[in-house]
Amino acid sequence: MRVLSGIQPSGSLHLGNFFGMMKKMIEHQENHELFCFIANYHAMTSVSDGKALAKGTLEAAANFLALGMDPEKSIFWVQSDVPEVQELTWALSNFTPMGLLERCHSFKDKTSRGIAANHGLFAYPVLMAADILLYQSEKVPVGKDQKQHVEVTRDIAIKFNNEYGDIFTLPEPEIDEDVATVPGLDGQKMSKSYGNTIDLFQEEKALRKQIMRIVTDPTPVEEPKNPDTCNVFQIYRLFMDKEQEADLRRRYEAGGMGYGEVKEELFVTVRDFFAPYAERRKELLANTDELRSILAQGAEKARHTALKTLRKVRKKTGLAY
Ligand code: TYM
Repeated sequence: MRVLSGIQPSGSLHLGNFFGMMKKMIEHQENHELFCFIANYHAMTSVSDGKALAKGTLEAAANFLALGMDPEKSIFWVQSDVPEVQELTWALSNFTPMGLLERCHSFKDKTSRGIAANHGLFAYPVLMAADILLYQSEKVPVGKDQKQHVEVTRDIAIKFNNEYGDIFTLPEPEIDEDVATVPGLDGQKMSKSYGNTIDLFQEEKALRKQIMRIVTDPTPVEEPKNPDTCNVFQIYRLFMDKEQEADLRRRYEAGGMGYGEVKEELFVTVRDFFAPYAERRKELLANTDELRSILAQGAEKARHTALKTLRKVRKKTGLAY
């Protein structure tokens, strides 16, 4: 099965990205044909500092590789290194009703928070559809916030296929209920734009500070607590197996345990979990020539698949004359 997903290189990497998408992708590379990319074109909708985007792109690549993305097993590249995706975006745009984009939650959410609605932001899902369809992806592991975008992709693909024959594979989102929406410090979806993230690669002190900021209710230490409504528990359980989760649940329900104590444990857990990857990440970023070379090789492989699709599209649409 062909599995594809991407991540934007805009800002730091958080637990929502890791559990919602990256962890699954890294696991999938053992059994599936995996396509994974850094969505730097998409990041242009929020980053207008060229230096920051370039730096963020290398960092995002190093993050994924450090966490276990293996360029020998998978195709791993930077989106703009296969610019043909823009050509497909244009072809797909002609099969994308305005209303379909107007209904996208992510667009509505961003504009309602005061982000100016430009064409890039509006057309964002069409570019995402091009990412998915260009590589004939079957499964797309994402968090719940991206589900609608995969549905839009299917709608566009169906319209295109209806007109020109079966060119595109119809993709399906892969969303694990357990991690569909990883909560942030305040219980809302963890998101950079809400300022409620726990970041993977940061100094110990800053990590501790983030974790101590997790919002809890005022239940006194001695009283029983409800793990299901507790943000600390909901984040901590991501690092646990079923047995450990049941143990922690019992500690909550027995009373006598303060939130400060669990937060401290969570801090140690997160720190120790990511520490070995941070080392590898540092090495990768110390040798950016090698990193660029890994990405260039990935782009070459990705382009090979992309061109197969694009040749069909050019022929069917009459662009090839
Ligand atoms: P991005 O960069 O915002 O996020 C990367 C992935 O992390 C997931 N995610 C979460 N999952 C669970 N809980 C959370 N709190 C949480 N926060 C983020 C996202 O759902 C995503 O899977 N549009 C995409 C990038 C993209 C893409 C694609 C993805 C571009 N083209 C084609 C799949 C296929 C995005 O902005 O992800």
